[in-house]
Amino acid sequence: MRSHYCADLGEQNIGEMVSLCGWCNTYRDHGGIVFIDLRDRSGLVQLVFDPKDSAEAHKIASEVRDEYVLLAKGKVRARGEGLENPKLKTGKIEVLVESLKIENKSLTPPIAVGDESVGEDVRLKYRYLDLRNPRLQEIFITRSKVAQATRNALSSLGFLEVETPILTKATPEGARDYLVPSRVHHGEFYALPQSPQLFKQLLMISGFDKYFQIAKCFRDEDLRLDRQPEFTQIDVEMSFCTQDDVMSAAEATLKAIFGVCGIAIQTPFEHHTYKEVMESYGSDKPDLRYELPLVEVSDLFAESSNEIFAKIAKDSKNNRIKALCVQKGDTFFTRKTLGEAEEFVRKFGAKGLAYIQIKEEGAKGPLIKFLSEANLKNLIERVGAKVGDIVFFGAGEKKIVWDYMGRLRQKIAQDMGLIDENLYRFLWVVDFPMFERNEDGSVSALHHPFTMPKNLDVEDVEEISSVAYDVVLNGFEIGGGSIRIHKEEIQSRVFKLLGISEEEAKNKFSFLLEALQFGAPPHGGIAFGLDRIIMLLCKANSIRDVIAFPKTQKATCPLTDAPSEASEEQLRELHIKVRETKQ
Ligand code: AMO
Repeated sequence: MRSHYCADLGEQNIGEMVSLCGWCNTYRDHGGIVFIDLRDRSGLVQLVFDPKDSAEAHKIASEVRDEYVLLAKGKVRARGEGLENPKLKTGKIEVLVESLKIENKSLTPPIAVGDESVGEDVRLKYRYLDLRNPRLQEIFITRSKVAQATRNALSSLGFLEVETPILTKATPEGARDYLVPSRVHHGEFYALPQSPQLFKQLLMISGFDKYFQIAKCFRDEDLRLDRQPEFTQIDVEMSFCTQDDVMSAAEATLKAIFGVCGIAIQTPFEHHTYKEVMESYGSDKPDLRYELPLVEVSDLFAESSNEIFAKIAKDSKNNRIKALCVQKGDTFFTRKTLGEAEEFVRKFGAKGLAYIQIKEEGAKGPLIKFLSEANLKNLIERVGAKVGDIVFFGAGEKKIVWDYMGRLRQKIAQDMGLIDENLYRFLWVVDFPMFERNEDGSVSALHHPFTMPKNLDVEDVEEISSVAYDVVLNGFEIGGGSIRIHKEEIQSRVFKLLGISEEEAKNKFSFLLEALQFGAPPHGGIAFGLDRIIMLLCKANSIRDVIAFPKTQKATCPLTDAPSEASEEQLRELHIKVRETKQ
């Protein structure tokens, strides 16, 4: 139907007859001459309807309203002098229409295309209209190119694309499973995969050597700006590999992906251990576009006359006292914003937020009187504080202090405008602990239970580390992986440490434990969060902008009204009785 996309037209087409298809973006009538901006996925071009040239087309044009579907034929011409529109890619030309067909009408759209001020629920209910927004179309064009680039990069490295099942058994990645009832097997359920983890390991045992998949994953977990219940991974696995082999394949893939937007990234990425990043940035996914390191100062408070700080300082295994020196912070923070900063950290478990202001006349703040002169001098030197700076303190249980001081660091960088939005700061976080202890004393895997531990014989499980790594970009974890356990006896020991009984392990993972006994090669891999990568690449505000039909924060779809109740007949067929219905 079309000879060109709208925005592909330019001065090179002047004098040509063209056929265009698209939607009416805007309609204007200037003294009898009608102007319509026609929009297709490439962008806009101005159509002109002059009754002197084609009375018929002009008559039809006068019936056009927003979002009508139009087929137009006409001649490209240069715009008159002074009539060029530098804001439009096609702003130097226009199309004088000779014939026009209204292919379809549109109701008055409930949201104007491109209007992002409308509430998200409405935007998602009319997502097909929302997606006409050129900004969103641009994102999906990039997303499609990224998928191609990924396939090309991994294929050229010898990876084979293999699909794995969606109706399967639970894969523990730390979230709840989505279950699908079986009609044929009374009372039994499939689980949707949280990732293809176990299948990709089985493919290594099958001898595929290098696998990848652009895979849908399903996780029933609390949603955030960078989390959806249904999301896409670029999933990769390889055999006979070291951590470095996986990392270089991962870096090559990311290079190709960022190349799609002309962003040249430097590889190899820097490496930081888990310990380093937690101690220095309070997060295992630190944003390194700015400095603001956390500095350990417990030792300086050990002898302090402040009982609370002194007590915290004495248990250096479980506690931390972290100082965060903000350059020029004393001039930036007011009494009000200091109060807001304290409110902010309280939300994440802080009991308060102590600080020291560095004035011309010396350090000021309630903490000072508890420190000896020597320790105060030492502290100021250690954090590098100068006149005009402010130093914040977080003290308490280490995980809580890391968390709220890490968040404070990020908030201050944002509020003070310290972030260079054009930077892409990649890093690898390595040497993750294998396990973490939960509040109830139980132990869970920090990555997943199939990760190879480094020192399984160490008595304190929290000291066991693993060959696991995350790739982090600008404060987001965009990928994570590990070298896997390929020996049944190690896998069984890890299950035991996780408190998974032999029976439970058999029940859930007998297929894996069995497969590991049939010549499993050493193997490892990684999975990237494709949606998160696109979000960062396109500088989108939320992961929802980069998923064509995303769920709301409450995991619903306002467009289709999913999830919804099943009919009595369906439920009976599935042998399911709903215990309680919604009020
Ligand atoms: P992991 O659970 O770290 O590892 O997931 C890999 C990457 O997937 C992305 N991601 C998500 N993106 C959007 N919404 C979510 N709910 C969500 N959850 C995770 C993140 C994350 O880094 N099987 C292992 C990988 C492996 O070991 O090879 C796994 O799934 O960017």
